[in-house]
Order: sequence, then C-alpha cells, then structure tokens
Amino acid sequence: MTVLSIQGLKGGYSEVNILNGIDLAIEEGEILTVAGTNGAGKSTLAKAVVGLLPRVSGTVTLNSKDVTSLAPEKRAQNGIGYVPQVSNVFPSLTIIENLEVVEGVKDRRSRIAEMFRLFPALAERKRARAGRLSGGERQQLAYARALMTRPSVVVLDEPTAALSPALVAESFGRIASLAHDGTSVLLIEQRARQALAISNRGAIMDGGRVVLEGPAVDLLNNEKAAALYLGHST
Ligand SMILES: Nc1ncnc2c1ncn2[C@@H]1O[C@H](COP(=O)(O)OP(=O)(O)OP(=O)(O)O)[C@@H](O)[C@H]1O
Ligand SMILES: [Mg+2]
Repeated sequence: MTVLSIQGLKGGYSEVNILNGIDLAIEEGEILTVAGTNGAGKSTLAKAVVGLLPRVSGTVTLNSKDVTSLAPEKRAQNGIGYVPQVSNVFPSLTIIENLEVVEGVKDRRSRIAEMFRLFPALAERKRARAGRLSGGERQQLAYARALMTRPSVVVLDEPTAALSPALVAESFGRIASLAHDGTSVLLIEQRARQALAISNRGAIMDGGRVVLEGPAVDLLNNEKAAALYLGHST
C-alpha cells in the first residue's frame, strides 16, 4: 500500500520556485532515501510534505487522503512525523517534558516508556533539560518526539548529521528497524551510500528536481550517480 504520495510538487519560500515538480511515492514499511547536492531542495521538499512550506502546488497524499491543504498539526494527526534538519526540541524543558507536550498522543505513558526503551541514553537523563544535551542526544529526542504519535511515515532530514561516527551506524540501525516494524521513512541524507544500504528505493535531487530514481541497489551500482552524487565510498 502506498503510504505517502507526492505528485507534481512545486513551490518555494517566495515567488521563486525551489521545487520544480517532484513525483515520489513511499510504500508501507519502505525507506526512501533522498540524496543530492547542497541546496538541491531536499529540506524544502521535507517542509512541503509536512506542511511548512509557504507556497506549494501539486498534491501530497497520505494513506489515500489528500493532505495538501492541511496545516502541519493536522498532517501530524493524520500520521506524518517530522524531524527537521535543525532539531526542534524545547531547550528549557526536560527530556520527559519534551515528550509529554507532544500533541495528539493517545497512550502517552506507554509511548514514553517505549521511547525510553528505544533510546536508553534519553532514559538515563530524563530529568535533564534538553538545552544541556549533546547534538546527538538532542537529535534522539527530536526523533522520539516524532515517534510519539505512531506516525505511518516519518520524514527525517539528515538524522545523522550531528552524530559522532560511532553513533551513525546505531542511528541507521534504528531507522532500519523502525521500517521493519512497518513505519515508512523518507530519509534525507548526505551519507547517501550508507542510507541507500538500508533503503528500498532512492532518489537524487538536483536543482529542485528528481534527476535519478530507482531501487537503492541500482543507484548504488549506477556509475553516473556514484560519480556525481554519492561521494566517496567510505
Ligand atoms: N527559509 C528560506 N527562505 C528562502 N530561501 C530558502 C530558505 N531555505 C532554503 N532556501 C533556499 O532554497 C534552496 C534549497 O534549500 P534546501 O535547504 O532545501 O536545500 P538542501 O538540499 O536541503 O541543502 P543541504 O544539503 O545544504 O541541507 C537553496 O537555494 C536555499 O538557499
Ligand atoms: Mg537540507
């Protein structure tokens, strides 16, 4: 079943289009990596999907429902989770408070317990203010906040960017198991090779368009994609 479908998506922050017509779809439990050069429009695509881009045309469909005209909170209620490139946690609130204030959560206590099981580092410091966390811990908290509502798809914008090399593999492992449990993932990543290695499909953006798209293994084996967009292999 298609969980998220993006059709003919155009738009930007002012009258200038940053997105020039994007078509993408993600099936249930599938990971789609979106890679591409700096400024290609990856974060702008994420914002358009979650409802934060000021001006868009085209359609975003979630579980067969057209959500294009819905505000971000409504899209979240309909099952879109989002972890932005710059993590949005409340720095003056503690870890546990950051989880308590997420809106639209039904079984809050058990969800918080589940998040602490998934992110043991957060459990250990649950009374610490988010402003005192390391970049990696803050990213985990943003991620946990996004998962509180049991989204059917999560949009992760460079989730490994702030992490030490040791934590990167752990983070990709967590994303893979999330998808294994049925959550679809739109994964925006600079570490394109590692991201594609856990993905079903991949798309490469350049200049606000998808210039290459297909099964992740095909992109990894595509010499043109490798040379232009995937960087070195380590
Ligand atoms: N808030 C904004 N207002 C106006 N223009 C913006 C804004 N945010 C991004 N842009 C512009 O939109 C274009 C695409 O930016 P975007 O952040 O989507 O790229 P990206 O692919 O996510 O890049 P990166 O890999 O550096 O994160 C860039 O030209 C950028 O300058
Ligand atoms: Mg970006």
